[in-house]
Amino acid sequence: MSGIVFLKTKNLNMIRDFYLSIGMKVWLKQAECTILKHGNMLLGFCERDEIDKQGIITFFYDEQTQVDSLYEKYKTISTSSPKINEKYNIYNFFAQDPEGRTIEFQTFLSPIISYQIIDEALIKRRSIRKFKKNDISNDLLNRIFDVCRFSPTSRNCQSFYYIVIRNPEVLSLLASLRESSSAPIAKAPCAVAVCIDTDKTKRIEQDGAIAAYHFILAAYNHGLGTCWIGAMDRDEAKTVLNIPAHHFIATITPLGYPDETKTIPERRNLGEFVRFF
Ligand SMILES: Cc1cc2nc3c(=O)[nH]c(=O)nc-3n(C[C@H](O)[C@H](O)[C@H](O)COP(=O)(O)O)c2cc1C
Repeated sequence: MSGIVFLKTKNLNMIRDFYLSIGMKVWLKQAECTILKHGNMLLGFCERDEIDKQGIITFFYDEQTQVDSLYEKYKTISTSSPKINEKYNIYNFFAQDPEGRTIEFQTFLSPIISYQIIDEALIKRRSIRKFKKNDISNDLLNRIFDVCRFSPTSRNCQSFYYIVIRNPEVLSLLASLRESSSAPIAKAPCAVAVCIDTDKTKRIEQDGAIAAYHFILAAYNHGLGTCWIGAMDRDEAKTVLNIPAHHFIATITPLGYPDETKTIPERRNLGEFVRFF
């Protein structure tokens, strides 16, 4: 399900340019109306002979520093300075658009539930190696695993299973298996082993990789960080986790609320890895 809020404007071009300067993109042009998009927000402006000014148009960002840089950019139209609002546990400031609507720029200071569209999640997910100590509730884990039920598998054999590890001694042991490559496991309050029951599938590695990435994306979409730790199909890991020796561990990922901000590592341009025949 999706939706659009439409507002009347007396000057469509000016208001469109203003919101484009904030970072919105044109999603759809229609007669007398332009629908703009910001993350999951669709906002339509239609040229009329009156102006809708009700409500607040709120833009939210991942980081407090983004709110601060927007304040520097929009100081002249701001009506308050950035500060923590303890009641709502946000960091925000208000401003006015050129037609007098109230706009707000904010970041949430506590974890938020899933809202992203898939492209944004695919682009913004990062490998996280530093985590906050906050525990992750079983309720949240179950919401993530509920999405993992839909991971594709060869012949729909559903060969995957997940093991949640919270025991600090076990986390330390798993973190030690591949030296610095596996060290992030000990930095998280929890880890998840993504396993394949090899009696159920002939496509062991494919089922495993997809189930692991499905989990990684679902976890990210619920505000949690992960990091694929390679080559974790190890005898020691199987012994300590009571996994049958012939099963396959696709990866064991640390899992927690991220305690680091990552920039996007360099990626190739389309021309370098897409070919059309
Ligand atoms: C198959 C595979 C194995 C990986 N192994 C490790 C690992 O052992 N330790 C680690 O810290 N990161 C590991 N990574 C994470 C990569 O370093 C990371 O995906 C890459 O640097 C790109 O960064 P991004 O995930 O933030 O886009 C692995 C990723 C993949 C896909």
